[in-house]
Amino acid sequence: MTAIRGYVAPTHEADALGVHSLDQFVLTVPDVTKAEEFYGNFGLDIQRDGNALALKTFGHHHRWGSVIETQKTKALNHLSFGCYADDLPKLKTRIETNGVKLIDAPPGFESNGIWFRNHENVLIEIKVAPKVSPDSKSQSEWISVPGGAAGATVRDKSPAVRPRRLSHVLIFTKDIDASIKFYEQNLGLRLSDRAADIVAFMHGIHGSDHHMLALVKSTGPGFHHCSWDVGSINDIGLGAMRMADKGFTKGWGLGRHVLGSNYFHYVRDPWGSFSEYSCDIDYIPSDKRWPSGDHKPEDSFYLWGPEVPREFTINYEAGES
Ligand SMILES: [Fe+2]
Repeated sequence: MTAIRGYVAPTHEADALGVHSLDQFVLTVPDVTKAEEFYGNFGLDIQRDGNALALKTFGHHHRWGSVIETQKTKALNHLSFGCYADDLPKLKTRIETNGVKLIDAPPGFESNGIWFRNHENVLIEIKVAPKVSPDSKSQSEWISVPGGAAGATVRDKSPAVRPRRLSHVLIFTKDIDASIKFYEQNLGLRLSDRAADIVAFMHGIHGSDHHMLALVKSTGPGFHHCSWDVGSINDIGLGAMRMADKGFTKGWGLGRHVLGSNYFHYVRDPWGSFSEYSCDIDYIPSDKRWPSGDHKPEDSFYLWGPEVPREFTINYEAGES
């Protein structure tokens, strides 16, 4: 594979400023009951409050996502990023200096944070919040048993898959370069890797997965997928099988990505976006500079896996079909 390895020497890190986590994503959908069924079967801990869902993972108090019922079609409502308390005023100053206008929080989402829209009108919040991006690479395991024992259960007894945490979201954008610039300059995210002007992956400077936010070229903004970390490739398969058994048969996987290196299976949600089971994604520690590369798209999308279904890249939010 040919890749342009554009290593960037470390800058003076004392001046580095940026968010530490993708705190949560918020979607609006036309039918929250369908969302409850989809994400519940996916293995998330769903808490319903009227026409809103909190998407949590079992054994973790954090709210990784919210789904709100509206009369409209599915849409990304906003992305919320977490930062340290000392950094919020500095980020606010930087964002205003960059000419980005701060706006009021939408009703029901009042917070200690700041709100603004990106260059494509995507609503973004930065707030003071606990760091929920991992502080080290997530453990994953190859599950095996000694000789003389059976490794698999009967299908009827297959364990429920419970994702451990949100890893990242991927959103559509009309302009990859402008988006990279926006998130670098205003949120302090850094480019991990990209493939021409097709896709880009960004990480946090305080230690995060290879990407907490990914961007893919489209005709406009929109939500493509949320990605959930699981502990083994077996869990990916079990999750995909359970979703198929429940009628969610469309998606893409099993495969392995090149950029980020994670094993994946994407399940299509009721609105044409996806939820990803992800295992063993690369990790970028806070004290390391990742040698970000610009890779050939045809050589870097996935290492192995089935052919990509056409519907995988349709941005319904932008009116594509
Ligand atoms: Fe992903």
